[in-house]
Amino acid sequence: MSNFNPMNLGGRVVLVTGASSGIGRATSVLLSRLGARLAICARDEGRLTETLGMLEGTGHLTFPFDLMRTDDIPGWVRSVVEEIGCLDGLVHCAGIHGILTIRAANAEKIETMMRVNVLSALLLARGICEPGCRGTKASIVFVSSVAAISGSPALSVYASSKAALLGITKSLAAELARDGIRVNCVTSGMVRSELTNRLEEQLLPSQFEAIESRHPLGIGSPDDVANAIAFLVADTGRWITGTSLVVDGGYTSV
Ligand SMILES: NC(=O)c1ccc[n+]([C@@H]2O[C@H](COP(=O)([O-])OP(=O)(O)OC[C@H]3O[C@@H](n4cnc5c(N)ncnc54)[C@H](OP(=O)(O)O)[C@@H]3O)[C@@H](O)[C@H]2O)c1
Repeated sequence: MSNFNPMNLGGRVVLVTGASSGIGRATSVLLSRLGARLAICARDEGRLTETLGMLEGTGHLTFPFDLMRTDDIPGWVRSVVEEIGCLDGLVHCAGIHGILTIRAANAEKIETMMRVNVLSALLLARGICEPGCRGTKASIVFVSSVAAISGSPALSVYASSKAALLGITKSLAAELARDGIRVNCVTSGMVRSELTNRLEEQLLPSQFEAIESRHPLGIGSPDDVANAIAFLVADTGRWITGTSLVVDGGYTSV
């Protein structure tokens, strides 16, 4: 039998944010199994080191960083490249979720959400565009949410941050194609992660069950989203840019 694997990432270097947990951790593990060398980022050094221990292969490095420090992001990307080499991929999984009614929202809460979920995405992309920071071809993948495309109460701030990623994906794809950079997005339904566990604690059991029942295939796992991300990072996605791949267990089909 042939060993051909169209998603082989041997020789590629990929920066994954949000790698200390959930989708970012699952993506890091999968990309390493496909042969990539990884630069993994989050704030919590202990949990990042745990992820490092789960990776296959050698040459992976941890880069603890707080993406709230938006002004510092492009310079930080350069320092990552100086240590690990040019980036062939950037997967931005770091993000925060929050149930927040519009009556409880204020500028500070909205700004925090936008900084981590949106500004960081733009400034990470800016960083990878800097001369010498990427290989001849590169793939950027953002992680959006079904909240961006279907309404739920108390989610307008989170939804707007995730909808912004859909617009960013399209415009950056158009702008960066000539530089050999593809830009895509995975729009995820609910998967089991620490984010979802926190959400479950904040809701009544009946409210959580109502969200769960809106997924015809049930709640997913971080691996389900990681598989789609890997497809877009690898050469399987070589003719795909500016798109959002919906991975939601059927949430938006009903
Ligand atoms: N879980 C879902 O059902 C779901 C559905 C749709 C979309 N999403 C999106 O998928 C992404 C990952 O979600 P998840 O479920 O894996 O969440 P998670 O388990 O809570 O993980 C979030 C990750 O983001 C990192 N992070 C948060 N704030 C950061 C900051 N200021 N600087 C650097 N890193 C930061 C966290 O690391 P530290 O705390 O160590 O910094 C953690 O690694 C998010 O963008 C989320 O909006 C999730």
